[in-house]
Amino acid sequence: MAYSSAMRITPIVTVLLLVTASCIKDTPDPPGGQTDTLNDRVEDWLSEMTLEEKAAEMHGSLGLSVDGLWGAGGNERLGIPAFQMSDGPRGVTAGASSTFPVPMGRGASFDPELEYQVAEVMALELVAKGGNVLLAPVVEVLRHPAWGRAQETYGEDTHHLGVMGAAFVQGAQTHVVATPKHFALNSIEDTRFDVDVTIDERSLRELYLPPHRDVVDAGAGAMMSAYNSVNGDYCGENAPLIRDILKGEWGFEGVIMSDWIWGTHDILGMVEATLDIEMPAPRFYGEALVEAVESGAVDEAMVDDSVRRILSTKLRFGLDIPEQVEPAVVESAEHVALTLASALSSMVLLKNDGALPLETGLAVAVIGPQAVDANLGDVGSSAANPTHAVGPLEGIEAAAAHHGATVSLVVLPEDTATADAVIVVVGLTANDEGEQIPFFPGSDRETLLLHTADVELIQAVAAVNPRTVVVIQAGSAIVVDPWVDAVQGVVMAWYPGMQGGTAMGQLLFGDANFEGRLPLTIPHDEADLPLFDAESFAVTYDYWHGYRHLDHNDTEPRFAFGFGLSYTTWSYESLQATTSEAGVTLTVSVQNTGDRAGAEVVQAYFGTTDIPDRAPRDLRAFKKVWAQPGETVEVVLEVKHEDLAYWDDGWNGASNWTIEVGSDHRTLPLSTTIAIE
Ligand code: BGC
Repeated sequence: MAYSSAMRITPIVTVLLLVTASCIKDTPDPPGGQTDTLNDRVEDWLSEMTLEEKAAEMHGSLGLSVDGLWGAGGNERLGIPAFQMSDGPRGVTAGASSTFPVPMGRGASFDPELEYQVAEVMALELVAKGGNVLLAPVVEVLRHPAWGRAQETYGEDTHHLGVMGAAFVQGAQTHVVATPKHFALNSIEDTRFDVDVTIDERSLRELYLPPHRDVVDAGAGAMMSAYNSVNGDYCGENAPLIRDILKGEWGFEGVIMSDWIWGTHDILGMVEATLDIEMPAPRFYGEALVEAVESGAVDEAMVDDSVRRILSTKLRFGLDIPEQVEPAVVESAEHVALTLASALSSMVLLKNDGALPLETGLAVAVIGPQAVDANLGDVGSSAANPTHAVGPLEGIEAAAAHHGATVSLVVLPEDTATADAVIVVVGLTANDEGEQIPFFPGSDRETLLLHTADVELIQAVAAVNPRTVVVIQAGSAIVVDPWVDAVQGVVMAWYPGMQGGTAMGQLLFGDANFEGRLPLTIPHDEADLPLFDAESFAVTYDYWHGYRHLDHNDTEPRFAFGFGLSYTTWSYESLQATTSEAGVTLTVSVQNTGDRAGAEVVQAYFGTTDIPDRAPRDLRAFKKVWAQPGETVEVVLEVKHEDLAYWDDGWNGASNWTIEVGSDHRTLPLSTTIAIE
């Protein structure tokens, strides 16, 4: 079977598309009682614009406005609105705003419906601040957890990332234009402005591009190109990526803008690639573009094509009639409650030898360098900040108060010896991992281990207290082998947002159940992953990373992709698979066999031996379900034929598949086989 186009809409996204179609703003009627269609209005504007005015639509306006927004284009004479942009993977960065867990934590929620709501809230807050373009989500595959910006993406798996990114786009675009970024293969920080990523066509098409294609299919109005180059061409002037694949094959109708300052290099390359907007200021476009057209070096039709896209995007999203949103929505009680829901769904219980939940009346000690202050994550372009953030101690104290428990903050491990339980809060900070910007602390990580002082603290506490629970705050995988056997509980909290401490308290005391599942693999050792070279300016990405890499090398992970414990247990039964014209439908019964209500993330992995060098099992569908004790949920998972295609000089389909279903990449109790004609 062969596919002529790369169209690929994941099942969950399809549902979201249907559910949300009605939420997306209708294109407003043109002002002045005219009945022109959107295209007529665009052509009218275009015919009235001078070459200079057209060129002015194609670049940013020199920096942040007083409101902390990045402007681009806009024409008072003709009444064309400007783009007003703000960053946003964890919240709007222009001024104080509702601050969510970082996307890696939200990826751990495996909950696209929640992600849709999170993005909707960010979009509303952006409109309240006068903005109309959100510079999010990041949909780059996490090739290696040492990437400094790992926290800004959703995880290592292509399918999961595409589903979460598409949900964000749909949610954000109820009010603003979303800008998935960075197109493409931007997953090293230290050399990000110049590194050239060499990649073969199959790995590019099957692993790295599908999440970008998913957000295009979800209707993204804008995209941002990456700094790095791919196969020899900088991404802002990469014609194979932008002109041929993004706009050509995928039919992207929105605008593509460069990444900031260092994302452009050569006007002719940019024009040939059809880069529409240079941000944040005209280095190569602007006057130079006007001159290039006048000298005949650039065809004005190329400029017209970009300006047409820019103007029609502005009209499609109703930017000419700005939505009115009260400033009071920013950090409203409702929005802050959603940051808590998001934090609760993101934390992953990695180990629990009976240490949790904490019971009523306990004397609990809290210790560690991250015990008090809230840790929101990176301080680079994604640095959203709230008016107040709840740190671990404050949150644990609040939960303890409901349980008649006492909480004491201690400094030395020996002071904890008499406590009933000890919570050790450790992890990374913006000094360890983050975006590499001149004069900022961010960089790629030097190690996947915790700081030596943190490990010594954990071991010292564990030596004196038999009920030691470690809470880690970090943006991606932490290798835990040096200390994990010594402790009774481990929680991966990520950078959990403004209500992170509250969520920690509620989960540790069992007021809420853990729902998070790992969106990445935690290896026993960094050597189990592919080499991460943050110094070289030439790297090669191949087909093997994350769980694929471990499977390929027959290596056991410490904690598998998709893994996460909770205060209840689940059983899986009755897997059935049927094929149809559209794809494969799976049904499975999942029962909550414990005595607590909880959530399970049902995961379906597909493998085939028809294709050489294929990973033995790839995630192709997941669904999060909630159930009361004893309750059974019938789960339906849909996989389209396109989602099973492989690349070999075009999309092709294999016939014989093994399907494994379960609760993580290594716990797959049910399996079946299918043959696709
Ligand atoms: C980052 C982008 C960000 C832009 C604007 C760049 O350095 O790579 O992700 O959107 O700055 O803040």
